[in-house]
Amino acid sequence: MTIPMDNGLSEAHPTRILAIETSCDETAAAVIDDGRRIRSNVVASQITLHQQYGGVFPEMASRAHIEAIAPVLQRAMSEAGAPWESLDAVAVTKGPGLPGSLVVGVNAAKGICLARDLPLVGVNHLEGHIYSHWLDDAPITRLGGNPFPLLALIVSGGHTELVLVRDHGSYELIGYTVDDAAGEAFDKVARMLGLGYPGGPAIEQVARSGNPARFKFSRPRLDKPFNFSFSGAKTAVLYVTRRFGGMTDGKLSPRVPVADIAASFQESVAEWLVEKTMRAAELYDVKGIVVGGGVSANRVLRERLNAAAGSRQPSPIMVLFPPLTLCTDNAAMIGAAAHFAYLRGQRDDLDMDVLPDLKIGA
Ligand code: KG4
Ligand code: ZN
Repeated sequence: MTIPMDNGLSEAHPTRILAIETSCDETAAAVIDDGRRIRSNVVASQITLHQQYGGVFPEMASRAHIEAIAPVLQRAMSEAGAPWESLDAVAVTKGPGLPGSLVVGVNAAKGICLARDLPLVGVNHLEGHIYSHWLDDAPITRLGGNPFPLLALIVSGGHTELVLVRDHGSYELIGYTVDDAAGEAFDKVARMLGLGYPGGPAIEQVARSGNPARFKFSRPRLDKPFNFSFSGAKTAVLYVTRRFGGMTDGKLSPRVPVADIAASFQESVAEWLVEKTMRAAELYDVKGIVVGGGVSANRVLRERLNAAAGSRQPSPIMVLFPPLTLCTDNAAMIGAAAHFAYLRGQRDDLDMDVLPDLKIGA
């Protein structure tokens, strides 16, 4: 294929992937060169739509994806300055996620593949969060030429997973939540405290003026050393709020010490996440820790994990957090993950189905 040079392509033709992500409440498309360079990264968030329900409303989410997908794709292509014929593949999140949301992205990807005779690469959303560290200035290179084995902590509204990454595409799930995801717990606690949705940023904000030592939430006891549980803390928060008058007709008693509860809850969650992550890093003797997912935007989690990894004896472990725009769901990370899958020869059939319960390394 001859490609004219005035179309934004470098002389050596990069591997260019159009990536699509619609697993939850973000309609996103991105054009990624060589799994690293972000040519465009468009995210249409449905936050305002779901705010009125205090969480993601699946039926509304899939309808909003249907409305947004074509304009988002057009914008991603035009911002990238990438003609359709310069694409090498189309990548899309095939799972895990909401079925009705995943279907919209997967069908859009198939339509483009069909029209343009391009290969389809289905991507695990969780793999995407890991590969957010390969983007842009590729912070992963700070771990040296070979960053493996690597430990990934994925903490989002739908996930809390510790994944051992032995090599590109080689994963072992070593820990997961037995009940709520960390972000989900933030969202639920925020609702109990009369704070907005999404709950994580709202809790982080109000916790700034709170005393994190005022309430102690007991550490969950679990059979497996690297598993997590957050529902106990969530229930404990409910009891504490009730002790101070609780909520009546949607109105929280002014006696409830919202900032102290938020700060104490945030501190406990950060402490549990850090403790297990550090123990796993130790056991598997990893070269570094990468964190991804919406909760990785949390400043207290960042500070605690950096402190623990930085003071580890005999030598510190490097921890990498994605830039804030790549913490939450986006298609750039799907393009980065797809790049390595594409290089390994992964090509999916056009009858590829969505996999709402897809696991990683299990
Ligand atoms: O990765 P993400 O955008 O979507 C999912 O795949 O779920 O994560 C969204 C989640 C929400 O639960 C939100 O409350 C949480 O990430 N979150 C945070 C913060 N920012 C977003 N949690 C704690 N602190 C934050 N700063
Ligand atoms: Zn996510």
